[in-house]
Amino acid sequence: MPRKIIIDTDPGQDDAVAILLALASPDEIDLLGVTAVAGNVPLELTAKNARIVCELAGHTDVPVYAGCDRPLNRPLVTAEHVHGKTGLDGPVLPDPQMPLAQGHAVDFIIDTLRAHEPGTVTLCPLGPLTNIATAFTKAPDIVDRVQEIVLMGGAYFEVGNITPAAEFNIYVDPEAADIVFKSGAHIVVMPLDVTHDALVTPHRNDAFRALDSKVGHAVAEMTDFFERFDKEKYGSEGAPLHDPCVTAYLIRPELFSGRHINVEIETQSELTLGMTVADWWRVTDRPANAMFMGSVDAQGFFDLLTERLARL
Ligand code: BDR
Ligand code: CA
Repeated sequence: MPRKIIIDTDPGQDDAVAILLALASPDEIDLLGVTAVAGNVPLELTAKNARIVCELAGHTDVPVYAGCDRPLNRPLVTAEHVHGKTGLDGPVLPDPQMPLAQGHAVDFIIDTLRAHEPGTVTLCPLGPLTNIATAFTKAPDIVDRVQEIVLMGGAYFEVGNITPAAEFNIYVDPEAADIVFKSGAHIVVMPLDVTHDALVTPHRNDAFRALDSKVGHAVAEMTDFFERFDKEKYGSEGAPLHDPCVTAYLIRPELFSGRHINVEIETQSELTLGMTVADWWRVTDRPANAMFMGSVDAQGFFDLLTERLARL
């Protein structure tokens, strides 16, 4: 039975690839809906980009909802410097024809969790955790109904990418992240420690291009665009595909390994705001609340991605 999931996202080129991987994998993943949140770019654009990506994959049947347009109690920080003005710079893709689904993303998350058997719906956040935290606060009964939350966010060994101490998704809405990490839901975290190893080398990007399909070219062009930033910053061979680690985990969890540990979110300090304080070395007796991944079989991940994208 495919796993029922909701992808909560702020596309973003890497979010787009994560969604494409899910849509290409119907045996393992039943995508119930996509919920957009403000993050890499403002909500209007993330809600548009999510539909562009569904249409690129030929899946106008997946409902796309717009959610929260700003963090719980801070102004929005965006990342056009990484993802470009549209959030999806790189390929030229047509404006979406499919409309947004009626209603608010937060209500869709709540209603979906209530409508399905407890423990059968997984949440996959790929952006700031505002929609998820708002849903948990508005309807605390849904927390126990969540099968698992598999999210991209945070870092321990790699520390930060938007500040020296914090990863972007957690930094943008640390209060929301705090609510989610304290919720008691089962959480699997794909931090920068993992995603910085999921690098699109020129060879791997050529493999996407060689699919010679609409999707293959679009993914290669997205990567061409956003790799310039990481290459300059880290001197790396290519761009890290952060968010597809989440959907790859649902298909092939054995590609990843990590530790079940305590993770707390810094919400007070100006200097380290949004830091994921991960007790990797288990030096406290704080209870474990997350499976914090530490490594990925990068070649296995790219083989899976290429094989699946070829199906679209
Ligand atoms: C995360 O931030 C966004 O820019 C990416 O889409 C990813 O979700 C990486 O820090
Ligand atoms: Ca993202």
